[in-house]
Amino acid sequence: MQFIIRRPWQLSQRDHTPEAVYLRQKLHRRQFLASLGVSAAGIGALLLQGCDKGTDDEVLKAGNYEPIPTAPAADANGEPGHEPIVGDSVAPQGMYPARRNDKFEYGRAETVEAQAARYTNFYEFDSSKMSWRYVTKFQPSPWTVEVDGLCAKPRTFDLDDLHKLMPLEERAYRHRCVETWAMCVPWTGFRLSELLKLVEPQPAAKFVAFETFDRPSQAPHRGASPPPSYPWPYTEGLTIAEATNELTLLATGMYGHTLLKQHGAPVRLVVPWKYGFKSIKSIVRITLADKPPATFWNTLMPDEYDFEANVNPHVSHPRWSQRVEKMLGSGEKHPTVIYNGYGSYVADLYPKA
Ligand code: MTE
Repeated sequence: MQFIIRRPWQLSQRDHTPEAVYLRQKLHRRQFLASLGVSAAGIGALLLQGCDKGTDDEVLKAGNYEPIPTAPAADANGEPGHEPIVGDSVAPQGMYPARRNDKFEYGRAETVEAQAARYTNFYEFDSSKMSWRYVTKFQPSPWTVEVDGLCAKPRTFDLDDLHKLMPLEERAYRHRCVETWAMCVPWTGFRLSELLKLVEPQPAAKFVAFETFDRPSQAPHRGASPPPSYPWPYTEGLTIAEATNELTLLATGMYGHTLLKQHGAPVRLVVPWKYGFKSIKSIVRITLADKPPATFWNTLMPDEYDFEANVNPHVSHPRWSQRVEKMLGSGEKHPTVIYNGYGSYVADLYPKA
């Protein structure tokens, strides 16, 4: 059920949903309610239920899954485990919380965890931002990520491998959704470049493709009947230079613990200078390729969502301006900044306008 009262950071359901999909959903809702014989009063009651946003505790518990076993900290010889990257503020005993990399700062207030967890985009579960309500059946553990394509040593990693082999760190990043809402959250993860090194990309590998799980029985919107007309599974892509940039993370945690299901457990991409749709959740496959891969939103609506998708206040979305962003929770407004303020790390990747 949708929100009736729109929060300051929300576009309307119609605005953020592809037009054809929105109209179809509306028709289905009407047909469904009619088939139940639901009257106007009944619809009113259902809408009121839609206002029930859940307590913070409910929202956070809904997406929690069995914690990943903790790996030992790096030993005196610096064996893989948990080497500090930068800063020495936290002394981790297990994996979470990981040491904070002090190089990165939000420059504004951190988003309250429950506010971020309550309002998520995860179309496999729901298109109304309330995916926390629909993640119960999703099983993010056990899990594997296959890394293949144009590389010398293709390999499948399970979660334990990732935690043992990758040096985890925490980074305070800004996140900007193409729908104009934004958040500031601490991700725990590792550089994608570190993982790619292990498979030894071939020189011909110019792009990296990402794919999400595809389990209709665990994700209600994905499994809806008739299926919504989306090009499942959710896919995304980066150039190899973007994928190996020092900002690009694979995150396994957030706010000092493992990722909640609605944020993309157990492992997701984080590319903070691009609109949020590039940060694909719950990844099962990463493929090195010589051509730009097809991506979910670009396939669905090529006129609205491009492959590059860098945050840019000067290029409006066809249906709304990108000049201002609104913080989740507080509704505070900030002028949008080119590359989401990460230009010193990434501007060189792109030809000057
Ligand atoms: N990944 C998958 N698999 N499915 C999705 O629907 N939504 C994207 C991205 N990754 C999405 C996804 C969008 S549009 C955004 S803005 C971010 O996830 C939102 O991340 P968050 O919900 O954790 O804040």
